[in-house]
Amino acid sequence: MKTEHNLAAISVRGLRKNYKGVPALDGVTFDVKRGELLAYLGPNGAGKTTTINILSGLLPRDSGDLAVCGVDVAKAPVRVKQLIGVVPEESNLYPELTSRGNLLYVGELYGLPRAKRALIADQILDQFCLSDKSNMPFRTLSRGMKRRLTIAAALVHSPEVLFLDEPTAGLDVQSARQLRAHVRNINQRGTTVLLTTHNLLEASELCTRILILIKGRIVAEGSASEIAERLDKAKRLAVKLSGDVDEAQLREHCPSVMGARLEGDTFILDVIDTHSAIAEVVSFSEKRSLQIVHIRSATPSLEDTFVKILEEHDAGDGGPR
Ligand SMILES: Nc1ncnc2c1ncn2[C@@H]1O[C@H](COP(=O)(O)OP(=O)(O)OP(=O)(O)O)[C@@H](O)[C@H]1O
Ligand SMILES: [Mg+2]
Repeated sequence: MKTEHNLAAISVRGLRKNYKGVPALDGVTFDVKRGELLAYLGPNGAGKTTTINILSGLLPRDSGDLAVCGVDVAKAPVRVKQLIGVVPEESNLYPELTSRGNLLYVGELYGLPRAKRALIADQILDQFCLSDKSNMPFRTLSRGMKRRLTIAAALVHSPEVLFLDEPTAGLDVQSARQLRAHVRNINQRGTTVLLTTHNLLEASELCTRILILIKGRIVAEGSASEIAERLDKAKRLAVKLSGDVDEAQLREHCPSVMGARLEGDTFILDVIDTHSAIAEVVSFSEKRSLQIVHIRSATPSLEDTFVKILEEHDAGDGGPR
């Protein structure tokens, strides 16, 4: 028999949610291991917040099985609330209460004894580098500090699992970096973290595993490099030739070249096999007395891959057509 310790921190099976008949989550299944820092990556409207709201008991699901540390979310929502900390997109703290006051209040809500509340509030303010702001009303803090304090408040009752909904949205580069360091630190202290983001760089920098959610479905899962590899098998070459030649001629004479386009003075070739394509380009250039100025691999970056996945799933909010 499994002990509670061996159970996944979060288990989601076949989760579905419709808003007025329109699916927001269309059969989502995933696990988060204990101690993991998982990125739940997706564009606007993918269903990230809906997932977090359902997992934290704020929103009912239509169907599916959900558990946090083995506790069924539908059957024991109160027990689940003790196990989780939730940091929503918009802060839920009181603007007029001080930083410390907010933490003490959260401690009271969770039923911590007065002395313990004070001890934890001070420890957490220190951990999040906010001790010097302890007597400042929340509304007077900078955006980065507000975000930090909101995360701090979600940790007052020492949850096993932390949900962070777009924690760095709207922060400048430096504040976002500081915040990511805090998130890493929280995870290293043993808290499992599910972090939603639409920022691919953040996901790959911070998290060992990424789930990509598009239109309520998980379309990819793995480490950043696994995702890039699995979803973009096409290999690419960048070739610069001296002399008169166009894309159609390259495609016609080089069977391994599936697609060709000109970017500035360089051809970007989508190829089936890099070695054969290089050989074909070399032989084509010799026959035409063209010089190869350079030829190099141009395998798509992770960001290219992500954009391609979004395009394949027609996932953007829409731009000019
Ligand atoms: N209360 C609601 N009523 C109707 N539709 C909703 C409601 N909340 C969300 N939706 C829809 O459900 C889908 C998923 O929304 P959700 O907020 O979960 O996405 P998200 O991934 O968090 O997006 P974002 O990155 O913009 O925060 C969207 O199409 C959204 O319009
Ligand atoms: Mg959201």
